[in-house]
Amino acid sequence: MSRPLVVDVHTHVYPPSYMAMLRARKTVPYIHDPASGEPRLIILSSDDDPSIPIDERGRPVDTSYSDIDVKLAFMQQHGINSSVISLANPWLDFLDPAEAQQWAERINNDLEETCAQNNKSSDPDNSLPLKGRSTLFAFATLPLSAPSADIIVNEIKRLKTLPHIRGVIMGTSGLGNGLDDEALGPVWAALEETQFLLFLHPHYGLPDEAFGGPEVTKRYGHVLPLALGFPLETTIAVTRMLLSCVFDKFPRLQILLAHSGGTLPFLAGRIESCIMHERKFVANGGDVPGPQRSIWEILKTNIFLDAVVYGTAGLKAAVAAGEGTDRLMFGTDHPFFPPLNEGEKEWISVTTNYKAIDATFAGEKEAVAAVLGGNAARILKLE
Ligand code: URA
Ligand code: ZN
Repeated sequence: MSRPLVVDVHTHVYPPSYMAMLRARKTVPYIHDPASGEPRLIILSSDDDPSIPIDERGRPVDTSYSDIDVKLAFMQQHGINSSVISLANPWLDFLDPAEAQQWAERINNDLEETCAQNNKSSDPDNSLPLKGRSTLFAFATLPLSAPSADIIVNEIKRLKTLPHIRGVIMGTSGLGNGLDDEALGPVWAALEETQFLLFLHPHYGLPDEAFGGPEVTKRYGHVLPLALGFPLETTIAVTRMLLSCVFDKFPRLQILLAHSGGTLPFLAGRIESCIMHERKFVANGGDVPGPQRSIWEILKTNIFLDAVVYGTAGLKAAVAAGEGTDRLMFGTDHPFFPPLNEGEKEWISVTTNYKAIDATFAGEKEAVAAVLGGNAARILKLE
């Protein structure tokens, strides 16, 4: 099928330098090389279960995680014109404070260089339209464990000088205390000032107890942590931002929520209602300064959603939350969720999302074009 411009805003890489760092580690996150067979990526805390033989822990990690040519072949295979690549979880969250700044600069320079080289070799005069070539842009990573917020702010400012960086990716732990931490103020201010898009992505999930204990989690592999833990983690993180008035204090903050906002579009009304009924908030006679702006307004002005939700019900909720199709952007979550059968070229995780978009916007050509790439090209200024 011929498609309009397709931009993938949710697609990860581990640059070779990061892979080498993971290989040198023995605690989560790390890469283990078995005597035979593929290396294993052990990044979730539930992956590192001592009752599982080390050669079977986590998931296989192949060249699709680090080789940009494999990403470009994947893009070609799935009709993707442009990818906004981001470091995958857990980013630099776990680093010793003294190492964070250096690693952030190194990874971000690697990402910039990868994009620059690719875009130049595919179009030396930079004259072709986006639709006619394979281009790369990037969301950078932040040194969140650095000893001071100034180091993070300085990196955000430095990123503005790198021409292919279009925003930053971040997990939900912030400086270690979650995203309602007042100490994040200077970071929100710098993101607001630079108008970088903040791609908020889960990693930590929920405690095993939420699923019935570690035995239950283990019984079903990655299903409970990834299908439920990840989206709820995102929902909790952004709700804590809302409750701590981040969007009142930084009204121009622009956030892209992974996985169509977790469960935020579906739960927005309930969150708003609970805020309205909460007596702790000043508005209701309490002493806690509750949020001033409504969640519906924030969804329309501060929040963008990716379309990585694998079904029409989720997409409809996402569109309803943003009151239109202009805040929704296609993504794949590559290289996670590869086909299970050897030699299979088409990724069912990608075709499911394409089909959901086609079915949700059947007969609405402009909406399909906006979600597949038009929105991303406009919002991220890719042309
Ligand atoms: N699993 C992960 O650990 N990260 C993703 O982004 C997707 C699946
Ligand atoms: Zn992802």
